[in-house]
Amino acid sequence: MSKITVIGAGSVGAAIANDLTIQGIASEIVLVDINTQKARGEALDIYQGAHFGTPTIVRPGDYSDADGSDVVIITSGLPRKPGQTRLELAQSNVNIIKQIAPQIVAHAPNAIYIIVSNPVDVLTYVFHKVSGLPENQIIGSGTILDTSRLQAQLARQFHVSPKNVHAHVYGEHGDSSFVPWSLAHISNNHIDYYATHSPDSERIHWTGDEAAREEVEEYVRTSGAQVIKDKGATFFAVAMSVCHICKCIFSGAGTALTVSTMMHGEYGIEDVCLSVLTIVDRNGVRGKIMNALTEDEVAKLHNSANRLKEVISNIE
Ligand code: 2OP
Repeated sequence: MSKITVIGAGSVGAAIANDLTIQGIASEIVLVDINTQKARGEALDIYQGAHFGTPTIVRPGDYSDADGSDVVIITSGLPRKPGQTRLELAQSNVNIIKQIAPQIVAHAPNAIYIIVSNPVDVLTYVFHKVSGLPENQIIGSGTILDTSRLQAQLARQFHVSPKNVHAHVYGEHGDSSFVPWSLAHISNNHIDYYATHSPDSERIHWTGDEAAREEVEEYVRTSGAQVIKDKGATFFAVAMSVCHICKCIFSGAGTALTVSTMMHGEYGIEDVCLSVLTIVDRNGVRGKIMNALTEDEVAKLHNSANRLKEVISNIE
C-alpha cells in the first residue's frame, strides 16, 4: 500500500498523478488544490482510465486526506511565463510554500517530500527552514530533468541509448547549472575516448572542446524555456522525472540521482540547496556521492550556490 499526495492540480501536478497511475507506482493518489473543482476534475479524469493500467485510487482531497502519505509532491505555484527565469518567480512561490508547509506537515509528518515548484532549489531550501522536518525527508527535483535532457542529447549525438550515457547536470536547476565533463562517460569510457573508440566513431561528431561542451550545456539550460515558448508550459518530462524519483524512493536499492538537497560543506558549500549526485532510497536522502570534481567544476558549483544564495538573501 503506497500513498502519494500531490499538492497542486495544475498541468504538472495532473501529469504527475496521471503518470503515477499509468506506471502503477502508488495504490492511492490524493490530489489537493486550492481550486477544489480542478482537483476533482483531474482526479476523476485520471481515475476513469486507471483500470486500463494498474487499478489505483485517485481522488481529490484536502490536507486532512494526506494522512499516512508515504510521499508528498509539491507542485503548487505560478509557472514560468515565456521569457521569465525561474529565479524571477521566487517571492510569489516562496509565499505559497510557506503557506502550504505547516498545513501538509501536520497531516503527513513522516512522508518523503518532493519539491517540484520553481525556483526549485530556493523552494527546497525554504521548505527545509519552515517544515522542521529531518533533512532526509526533503528532496528537490533539482536537475534530474536537466540530466535527462543532457543524457537524451548526448545519446543522440553518440548514437547510443540514454541508459548508456552517464553524464549529469550539477548545481542550480536554472541558468547557472553545468555539466562536470570530467565525469561524463558512455559505456565505461570517458565520452572523449568513446567518440574515437566506438562502432559509430565515423558518424560521431564530437570534438570535446569547450565550444562543443558549451553548446550541449546551453541546449540543456534553455530546453525548458524552449518548450514553454513552443507550447506554453512544460509538464510531461518533469512529470516523468518526478515519477522516477518516487520509484527510487519505493525501491530499497538506493539510486544515484541529481536532486536538490541541503549542502553542509561538501565542496566547500553550505546552507543552500542544489544538485549533485545523491543516493535516494526508502528513507529519502541517504547521502551525497562525493565525486572528484576539477577545480573549475568546483568553481562552477560555487557560482551556482552564490546565485541561489543571492536570491535567498532577498526573499522574506
Ligand atoms: C523545466 O525545466 C519545469 O523547470 C521545469 O521544464
